[in-house]
Amino acid sequence: MATNTLISASSPSPTMASSLTGAASRFLPSATIAATSSSSATTRLSLSSSSPSLKCLQSSPLLSHIFRYQKRSLVGTSSSGRFSTLASPKCAASDSDQLKSAREDIKELLKNTFCHPILVRLGWHDAGTYNKNIEEWPQRGGANGSLRFEVELKHGANAGLVNALKLLQPIKDKYANVTYADLFQLASATAIEEAGGPKLPMKYGRVDVSAPEECPEEGRLPDAGPPSPASHLRDVFYRMGLNDKEIVALSGAHTLGRSRPERSGWGKPETKYTKDGPGNPGGQSWTVQWLKFDNSYFKDIKERRDEDLLVLPTDAALFEDSSFKEYAEKYAVNQDVFFKDYAEAHAKLSNLGAKFDPPEGFSIDNTPTQGQPEKFVAAKYSTGKRELSDAMKQKIRAEYEGFGGSADKPLPTNYFLNIMIVIGVLAIVTSLLGN
Ligand code: HEM
Repeated sequence: MATNTLISASSPSPTMASSLTGAASRFLPSATIAATSSSSATTRLSLSSSSPSLKCLQSSPLLSHIFRYQKRSLVGTSSSGRFSTLASPKCAASDSDQLKSAREDIKELLKNTFCHPILVRLGWHDAGTYNKNIEEWPQRGGANGSLRFEVELKHGANAGLVNALKLLQPIKDKYANVTYADLFQLASATAIEEAGGPKLPMKYGRVDVSAPEECPEEGRLPDAGPPSPASHLRDVFYRMGLNDKEIVALSGAHTLGRSRPERSGWGKPETKYTKDGPGNPGGQSWTVQWLKFDNSYFKDIKERRDEDLLVLPTDAALFEDSSFKEYAEKYAVNQDVFFKDYAEAHAKLSNLGAKFDPPEGFSIDNTPTQGQPEKFVAAKYSTGKRELSDAMKQKIRAEYEGFGGSADKPLPTNYFLNIMIVIGVLAIVTSLLGN
């Protein structure tokens, strides 16, 4: 369990205060430490306003109470003797460069531990608590980093996800200006892409909840074996504002990973596909190559030929319910359609309930180049084109000059009109003579 998770879950004690100072020194630049410990309001004010990282650091649960204290101190007295509140420095919830570096660290983690599936599940379980019928943040749930708190990790549906948090915590510690909410979604999206899945149109800037009291109540995520699987899936996913197509596409994430009886109660302890790992051995996968993101989940749950492959009641419903079936059949035969729909649905899921700073969020992928558009160059047709002979060129020039044209002097504009009139008159005269 991450230290800051536990610390933030309880109120600070004197012993904790000293450990917080130690912990704070790991996160804060030295000038800022001086600012937090200084008794001079003036020093605090000037250092705080000159440090753009301060607002970002407030997202750390470990430091949140330090900042709550500091925020109060930031109300200073102006020269006129009236109270004024200092404007906080402009800073997004997460830092774009740090997110990019964190992404590289996640790629390394994936290469070494093959933890793609559990990172995807972590991102989904943070976002999937969203309730579109609740307007207030964070009561509405969703991608807000609340899953880092022990109280939520203990929900039955989240069994085992503490392991995903443990894997990510060192990356969180390294990048103080990346929120948990962003890190969870970044890790999940990177895992999908690194496993061979589609590029996901992600955005970042999610604000973190700051206390365990802000976690959603248990019971918002789907059950794998409810009495009526299709209507249960609709109840849960419609509450998130998702539709049938998105339910089926997102279920395709089970192309990755395994179910473990000791966690969810579902699946076999091991199968021929999982007994040797990669990663920790055991569990039952939905697909043979359970670290490869493709459309095999839909093929396998449709065929149901291999008893070593898992089909949960909610998976089976995708080929039993007529509306779900339409999409499941399509995805089983066309991976491109699945990838397109999955990418859209995953990005939508990752934004559910999130509060973005800046409000529109931001991308960490290279934006299209802003420079001049490339000059259009027509194709050069070389085949079949024949140069006119010199004799022919001379003949054409002579005829052109015979009409009164020359290379320096273009023909009068009404020249062709006159020709047309003459031809017209000749045609009329000929027809009259013929009659
Ligand atoms: C449709 C309703 C869903 C149900 C009922 C469901 C249920 C489950 C269950 C029971 C497990 C096994 C957990 C364990 O024993 O460790 C699991 C694993 C997993 N789920 Fe789902 N899930 C659903 C939707 C989703 C969605 C929408 C995603 C992602 C977009 C997802 C991604 C995963 C992944 C990647 C794993 C494998 C985790 C691992 O190997 O550690 N699931 N799910």
